[in-house]
Amino acid sequence: MQESASRSYSGRDQSERAFEQIIGNSPALESVLDQVAQVATTEATVLVEGETGTGKELFAHAIHNASPRCGRPFIKLNCAAIPLDLLESELFGHERGAFTGAIAQKIGRFELADKGTLFLDEVGDMPPALQPKLLRVLQEQEFERLGSGRTHKVDVRLVAATNRNLARMVNQGTFRMDLYYRLNVFPITLPALRDRREDIPALVRHFVEVFSRRMGKQIQRIPAETMVAFQCHSWPGNIRELQNLVERAMIVAQDGVLPNPLPHERMNSFATCPANTSRESERGRILETLEQVGWVIAGPNGAAARLGYKRTTLMAKMKRFGISRSSPPETVRVLEPDPMRRGAAQL
Ligand SMILES: Nc1ncnc2c1ncn2[C@@H]1O[C@H](COP(=O)(O)OP(=O)(O)OP(=O)(O)O)[C@@H](O)[C@H]1O
Ligand SMILES: [Mg+2]
Repeated sequence: MQESASRSYSGRDQSERAFEQIIGNSPALESVLDQVAQVATTEATVLVEGETGTGKELFAHAIHNASPRCGRPFIKLNCAAIPLDLLESELFGHERGAFTGAIAQKIGRFELADKGTLFLDEVGDMPPALQPKLLRVLQEQEFERLGSGRTHKVDVRLVAATNRNLARMVNQGTFRMDLYYRLNVFPITLPALRDRREDIPALVRHFVEVFSRRMGKQIQRIPAETMVAFQCHSWPGNIRELQNLVERAMIVAQDGVLPNPLPHERMNSFATCPANTSRESERGRILETLEQVGWVIAGPNGAAARLGYKRTTLMAKMKRFGISRSSPPETVRVLEPDPMRRGAAQL
């Protein structure tokens, strides 16, 4: 499978690090990738915003990999996953005996990230009591371990992420304004998957390839119906949801054919599917309809009538899209976005 739509910011061969590839070449994604390229080489704090599953962590990695700090530590801390009373010591570390249960010295994430990048995930969940301490270390690049008066100097580049609306939290008084401005030096907002449906076929093929390798299971064919269903779904869970659905489909796949894991959405959302506006899905829609009607073009039950085209218009479109009955039926190429840019998909 060709993946010319993927980008490797580290410049290394990432074929074995498939989940770290950023797949897609939609204008919305390209614009974000341009911003990543602009900011990565600087020391600026980056705030990655976006709905759940849009790739915030993947992009945080990409920023680090494209920065001069690549090769130095990339340290992650999820502010929502750590109990409040432990978060401070996770960030700054503690000395032995600093508090009940502190039986040994602990190095905090800021120290571990020295000369590298600290990725503060879910920064909107940072408790108010800790926000001034975070602001201080960001401004002064210095802090003390809990239970110690000794000041540590660090050189840390911060990338923060959140799926919450920090500006609104500032207005509501739950997030400090000064910290918000300190984090919001260079905001990058990741587009929701439903706003870049053109990328769905490449993402589906990418995850099929990844799970094929992991499961040792080959997929030779992605039927048009499956791909159309993927393109028409609204994806509230974004790319993580897509990834999970591809995995589910791969588990139940038989005879090398990827089944549609969204059968209830099969055709009912098709007429209103936003993806239908694009050229590639028009091709898919024509092919799908031709298959449904047994390749009858004219007549009241023919594909032209169903699609609302004149017979001659449909024939012209079929010619333009290279659709003929002898072309391989229901291949993944059905929804290929742009053959000039991507090349033929081979599975
Ligand atoms: N453009 C992309 N190309 C390939 N894989 C992607 C892309 N974007 C996201 N992914 C994959 O989707 C999954 C979810 O991404 P990630 O964990 O970065 O999302 P997130 O925005 O941090 O989500 P959450 O807010 O729920 O933490 C990961 O497995 C990631 O590798
Ligand atoms: Mg995340």
